[in-house]
Amino acid sequence: MGQKGGKKAKIVKMTGADDFHHVLAIETSCDDTSLAIVRADGFVVGCLTANQDLAHRPFGGVVPEIASRNHTLQILPLLEELFSRTSWSWQKIDGIAVTNRPGLIGSLLVGVVTAKTLALVYNKPFIGVNHQEAHLLAPFLWDSDMSQSQLKFPYLGLTVSGGHTHLFHVRGIGHYELLGRTVDDAAGEALDKFAKLLGLGFPGGAKVDEMAKRGDAKKFAFPRTMKGSADLNFSFSGLKAAAVRRIESMSPSEVADQLADLCASFQEAVTESLMVKLKSAQTTLGLNRVVITGGVCANSRLRAMAAHWVEESGRIEIFMPALKYCTDNAAMVGLAGIWRLARGERSGQTLAPSAASFPEDFQV
Ligand code: KG4
Ligand code: ZN
Repeated sequence: MGQKGGKKAKIVKMTGADDFHHVLAIETSCDDTSLAIVRADGFVVGCLTANQDLAHRPFGGVVPEIASRNHTLQILPLLEELFSRTSWSWQKIDGIAVTNRPGLIGSLLVGVVTAKTLALVYNKPFIGVNHQEAHLLAPFLWDSDMSQSQLKFPYLGLTVSGGHTHLFHVRGIGHYELLGRTVDDAAGEALDKFAKLLGLGFPGGAKVDEMAKRGDAKKFAFPRTMKGSADLNFSFSGLKAAAVRRIESMSPSEVADQLADLCASFQEAVTESLMVKLKSAQTTLGLNRVVITGGVCANSRLRAMAAHWVEESGRIEIFMPALKYCTDNAAMVGLAGIWRLARGERSGQTLAPSAASFPEDFQV
């Protein structure tokens, strides 16, 4: 900017939004080790995720000790690979974002200690990010395979994953009003437990989805728990118990013959329960922009129901992340982190992992 009157004013450079072009992001809250480089407009320069499914499959669920050990093995080789594949360098990294809550403590520890060490060594500002906030912002992400998202604040946001089924009024960065949540199991947890019961393997959600495509969703009458409740909460433990009772009443050959119908009927109960409360919240708040995000939003039936809602309403817009950004990934953590760093927020070297969200993360 030109200066009037000859004498140049001393320019004091403040650290602000313009200083954050790209961040390095780290996600290790559960069993995926993920690293990404993300630009402030949500463009993903690169994102690499090392999946641990094979390590946990024999146990039918995530074993925390195995997850943290694998994060330790994978994280630095993955970082080297990310820089090499994107031809990126530390000079072009303006800050570091890391998931520090909620999640498995041992898993989070690996990411948090790595982020703090890198921040110290390369002298970069860094920030601890809430994993659920990252899921809520994931539909803003885009990359060279897709065009930029048209999503804007405010919106109604449903995070639906293995650990969460939460409904939010998202007003803007840092303004998340919790409208409702599961009172017991998360939707993904219910799908995973159901799949385990049927011996479909781990993680179960995608297997149930695949199997359900060949089944009749009306064959078994599973309950839509809390469908009629006045609040915006969810419950899936009654559905799980009903499925256990139904399967125990069948012979192994009956179960095998009707596997696809069981999956389709169970999946229908889960997805319908989600849609009922989502529609109810939409009517109450009058928000026409809706986000569905988290691992379970990869579900083909949920996506079909959402598409149908958009078509029949003529005014609802639904935004879901691309499939690769539905399940756990560091790109979404990078976006939450870069937007918070740009607002001047920082974490210090005392940042610690936390199994739960902080009370101030969400307003009730
Ligand atoms: O977001 P995510 O990767 O991790 C958590 O934060 O929990 O979500 C994982 C969950 C698992 O429960 C998995 O079974 C479920 O997402 N999932 C699916 C599908 N793909 C992943 N559930 C239903 N249909 C799918 N296609
Ligand atoms: Zn997640």
